[in-house]
Amino acid sequence: MEDVVFLLLCVSSAAAAQLCAPDASNGYKVRLSILTALGDEAYVWNDSEMFLFRAALAFAMRTADGQNYNVSNVLVCDETPRVSFWFVVTSPLNPTLLVERRQVEEAVRKSRNRINSAFMLTDNTLEFLGIPPTLAAPVPPSSPPG
Ligand SMILES: *[C@@H]1O[C@H](CO)[C@@H](O)[C@H](O)[C@H]1NC(C)=O
Ligand SMILES: *[C@@H]1O[C@H](CO)[C@@H](O)[C@H](O)[C@H]1NC(C)=O
Repeated sequence: MEDVVFLLLCVSSAAAAQLCAPDASNGYKVRLSILTALGDEAYVWNDSEMFLFRAALAFAMRTADGQNYNVSNVLVCDETPRVSFWFVVTSPLNPTLLVERRQVEEAVRKSRNRINSAFMLTDNTLEFLGIPPTLAAPVPPSSPPG
């Protein structure tokens, strides 16, 4: 544990990307099933989509704790083509420090619907492994009954 703290303190901002690693204690794995969700309408995951993900997470973090998170505060690593990746969030006040997992989890839960809708996906096709989906209230029928 002390080793981890020591390591974080030693990391320069130039090496910030190394803060993100698979199984990082403050990281989360995300798995997308774009083809399953959208079939013929599926879009190709690329750098622009990843930018949107990072922006959505920065938005979620801002909404949750009021600090000015930027896209640069969301670091992504270990991306696989089918599509999965890990991410960590760094503090806007000190980019060498990681935001705690539970804070990230709270932010993701609060903005879950906004994040899902940015990618036209659902809790089942945009999975944050280790963050169970919130039991959102069912969407009310679009036309009033009767
Ligand atoms: C990403 O894919 C979209 C289509 O899904 C395309 O319009 C866009 O130009 C691509 N962006 C990059 C950076 O490849
Ligand atoms: C976020 O990025 C903008 C533009 O690069 C910058 O002006 C602003 O200071 C950044 N905010 C923080 C909290 O780092």
